[in-house]
Amino acid sequence: MARLENKVAIVTGAGSGMGREEALLFAREGAKVVATDIREETVREVVALIQENGGEAAGFSHNVASEDQWAQIVKETIAKYGKVDILVNNAGVSGDATRMHEITLETWNKIMDINLTGTFLGMKYVIPHMLANKGGSIVNISSIAGLTGGSGAGPYTASKGAVRLLTKAAAVDYAKDNIRVNSVHPGYIETPMTTGLFADERMMQWFLSQTPLPRLGKAIDVAEGVLFLASDASSFITGIELPVDGGYSAQ
Ligand SMILES: NC(=O)c1ccc[n+]([C@@H]2O[C@H](COP(=O)([O-])OP(=O)(O)OC[C@H]3O[C@@H](n4cnc5c(N)ncnc54)[C@H](O)[C@@H]3O)[C@@H](O)[C@H]2O)c1
Repeated sequence: MARLENKVAIVTGAGSGMGREEALLFAREGAKVVATDIREETVREVVALIQENGGEAAGFSHNVASEDQWAQIVKETIAKYGKVDILVNNAGVSGDATRMHEITLETWNKIMDINLTGTFLGMKYVIPHMLANKGGSIVNISSIAGLTGGSGAGPYTASKGAVRLLTKAAAVDYAKDNIRVNSVHPGYIETPMTTGLFADERMMQWFLSQTPLPRLGKAIDVAEGVLFLASDASSFITGIELPVDGGYSAQ
């Protein structure tokens, strides 16, 4: 039995990296996948791949910071599939390594709008349909940067730390409604977001030295953790923060 049979899942930022891997894995596990991304061409490719392999998927161009777009996408998802069982708020941006006094308000607002407000809006628009359907699972992608402070990453760390606690607040609020809300905290994962960072050999050695399991993570490592929290296998788990970080946060 596939682990997401008869489920409808929205995955944001599904055009690249971990979101792409989650969309593909969910489809392999039987879900109808609604893949969204601000880069429409990447979503089209993911949807085509899912359909070529016999899966069911729809794709949308989507800026997660836009309330109007969230309203529209959730409306179209309901019109097409009738419900939403799973929401993965994965879309995110990192920002340049800059010290606090050098960060512009524009940069701050952009990172907050996408990483934090985008996550809030996703929950705001999907939860009414989960309430109507008497349950659901929401997985918000935070980071190890949402667990501890890091150098030169003020807005990113603040946004991911806020996602961690927004998740716990929602978990407590909606537990009685059978809506589970958990966060996932990836460590150093090889995706297009980190290609530049890992290209520098010295930086790469430093990242490896911080990770007890001595390798970088892969998108599929994170997707498997997200799948567990999205699926009924985790039906008594809500409000947790799941690090997928090779032991980084155990130190
Ligand atoms: N790669 C890592 O090491 C790492 C570690 C911890 C957490 N994360 C988090 O994991 C998530 C996925 O990151 P990734 O490494 O796969 O990155 P990625 O850059 O490969 O993918 C992110 C996707 O989000 C999309 N996106 C960006 N802005 C958007 C917006 N406004 N609306 C909709 N989509 C938008 C991008 O187009 C891209 O397809 C992010 O939230 C990121 O912060 C990544």
